[in-house]
Amino acid sequence: MSNQFSKDELYALPLAELVDFSFDEKTVAVFPDMINRSVPGYSLIQSLTGLIAARIVRPQTNVYDLGCSLGASSLSVMNSVQHQEYELIMVDQSESMIANCRRIFSKHHTDVLVHVNQTDIRDIEMTNASMIMLNLVLQFVPLEARNDLLKNIYHGLNDDGGLLLSEKVSVDIEQDERKIDDLYIEFKKRSGYSDLEISQKRQALEKVMQIESVDAHIERLKQIGFKQVFAVMQALNFVSILALK
Ligand SMILES: C[S@@+](CC[C@H](N)C(=O)[O-])C[C@H]1O[C@@H](n2cnc3c(N)ncnc32)[C@H](O)[C@@H]1O
Repeated sequence: MSNQFSKDELYALPLAELVDFSFDEKTVAVFPDMINRSVPGYSLIQSLTGLIAARIVRPQTNVYDLGCSLGASSLSVMNSVQHQEYELIMVDQSESMIANCRRIFSKHHTDVLVHVNQTDIRDIEMTNASMIMLNLVLQFVPLEARNDLLKNIYHGLNDDGGLLLSEKVSVDIEQDERKIDDLYIEFKKRSGYSDLEISQKRQALEKVMQIESVDAHIERLKQIGFKQVFAVMQALNFVSILALK
């Protein structure tokens, strides 16, 4: 997938005006490189997505990939769950992501019925789902809309179905937050980003990405009704949580 895309150099030069980060055409053109160099454990998240899918996806059900971007999570499910009839519903609001996602999936031969929809994930109705993926997306949904979205997900899942939620997280204790952030910056430097790139990207993300603590995520999911909620992965300040109905 990645050789149709370029290296992420969006923030390499000083920018006269820093506009809020968005998943527009420019971001999409570098997205695979950006996400791999910015999210510690990204490839592990994809492996775990496949591993979990193999356990919870059921025949004749729907699998939703919310905020699918270029469909990496869906590809993990498709590679892992074979010889089963299910429908894969991929949703993203970015026009450019969806156009590229469609291009990628049009070349992918599969017996699974795949839908790629350009919509806001807050506006869709989910039904008969055995698995719903929300990988690195909730952090871009306004805080006040998160509860309703997660309730919607809960109601869309069948009993024993599961939500896989991956997020960048904050740490409540200030000293620990500083330490983990310092390690995260080191991770980005070792991924080849300069100090300028790190700080400009950070500013661009400031208003559009709001992160919460692992405890806040787990508590909310339990309150909504999920019967088992636990972290399946943490890499620095990135966490994947499995919530089973
Ligand atoms: C970091 S990317 C997700 C990565 C992807 N899930 C993966 O595993 O490769 C965030 C994506 O969420 C999408 N997004 C953010 N808010 C959304 C919303 N309210 N409705 C639909 N898509 C949304 C963005 O357009 C973007 O493509």
